[in-house]
Amino acid sequence: MAQKTATLNLNNGSAPIELPILSGTMGPDVIDIRALHKQSGMFTYDPGYLSTASNRSSITFIDGEKGILLYRGYPIEQLAMHCDFIDVCYLLMNGELPTPEQKNSFDTIIKEHSMLHEQLVRFFNGFRRDAHPMAVMVGVVGALSAFYHDALDISDPDYRQKSAFRLVAKLPTIAAMAYKYNIGQPYVYPKNSLSYAENFLHMMFSVPSEEYVANPVIVRALDRILILHADHEQNASTSTVRLVGSSGANPFACVSSGISCLWGPAHGGANEACLNMLEEIGDVSRIDEYIKRVKDKDSNYRLMGFGHRVYKNFDPRAKLMRETCHEVLNELGLHNDRLFRLALQLEKIALEDDYFISRKLYPNVDFYSGIVQRALGIPTIMFTAIFAMARTVGWVAQWNEMVSDPDYKIGRPRQLYEGATMRDIPAAYSKR
Ligand code: CMC
Repeated sequence: MAQKTATLNLNNGSAPIELPILSGTMGPDVIDIRALHKQSGMFTYDPGYLSTASNRSSITFIDGEKGILLYRGYPIEQLAMHCDFIDVCYLLMNGELPTPEQKNSFDTIIKEHSMLHEQLVRFFNGFRRDAHPMAVMVGVVGALSAFYHDALDISDPDYRQKSAFRLVAKLPTIAAMAYKYNIGQPYVYPKNSLSYAENFLHMMFSVPSEEYVANPVIVRALDRILILHADHEQNASTSTVRLVGSSGANPFACVSSGISCLWGPAHGGANEACLNMLEEIGDVSRIDEYIKRVKDKDSNYRLMGFGHRVYKNFDPRAKLMRETCHEVLNELGLHNDRLFRLALQLEKIALEDDYFISRKLYPNVDFYSGIVQRALGIPTIMFTAIFAMARTVGWVAQWNEMVSDPDYKIGRPRQLYEGATMRDIPAAYSKR
């Protein structure tokens, strides 16, 4: 088939420029502008990457208009229904769902890597007790690079895989320890007889003096949260991981930077911000006041948990999380929960309001995930840490895909410079 091309006419007397058009297996075609600067001397301008595909990828696909999310081709709804988080980790890292034997050996490898070096455990003590768990995670995950000199050669696929196992395995331990440190309880070490989600709950909630058995409803709900947050193609934190990794930095440093990016309230920090917002609104009678605030251009106020750069009809993760929210609250006898009722009322009012309809602002996954996590007994400050734990597998899969690509280059955007033109320093300075 003939190569599709786009012709760019600059209307400045120069010859038209032919640019190749590339097609993926799904999704919009992309205009390959790599030769544009060489041929025209011009850059393109696209802050926030509104129209720019930054890389090729075979991991996750999103169709924002239709509300489709696929991991390696499988719809998120089917994965949430039929698989557990370990299946999804295997799928994201390897491209296919595991056979029972593959799953067993993958699960064993993850469990074998779940402990932390005792020296690393001491790092927690360096933080203030009231440090936010995300601050602790940025530091401790970054510090992992100081512990695994044996596998830092990123050109070796076996080392990359080992680092990926370590990260996926250790993130729950690090997140749970950050929490235990915050509340002043002893650290609880991982237990290999438990599933990934169950083990995390055990490390978060058990104490040495009592037996802890996790409620299966809570385990299932947490596992679903992990599946729904595992990857989301080139979102801000994943793009951060790729950009940091493009310089050849080690995967622990890359994931630490991903955690930093995720922390922001426009990204993963939205689940915590959403719960805080609901607490602040406090009562159904105050919703109108907050909707007015959103509409006031000078207030810069946003409803947390609403809107998405890519999903313009609905966020399929939000639909699943809403279902889980109902299930969990019913099963735990919390359906009259004050914040949940407030959230449902806010959702209803916003979905009927022209401000939200005209801007295609729908509840996103974070709108419901905070309410679910709160019902599971997870404190608000841990919400984004759990998101980071889930997203780690997506980060390492995307990082590994990038490093394995023979065409990968250091990420180096250009700019539209608007500062002072070249000038000489004042004479008074040259005399000094
Ligand atoms: N509440 C009120 N107005 C909003 C909101 C919101 N949550 N989000 C966007 N808008 C308005 C915005 O003010 C703008 O209005 P106007 O056209 O009058 O200037 C319009 O909608 C477009 O907004 P934008 O900022 O250009 O949209 P974006 O695609 O750059 O931003 C977003 C996407 C997710 C950052 C944004 O919707 C937002 O800040 N939402 C709240 C934070 C949030 O819930 N984030 C979690 C995202 S899902 C989890 C994840 O993947 O991280």
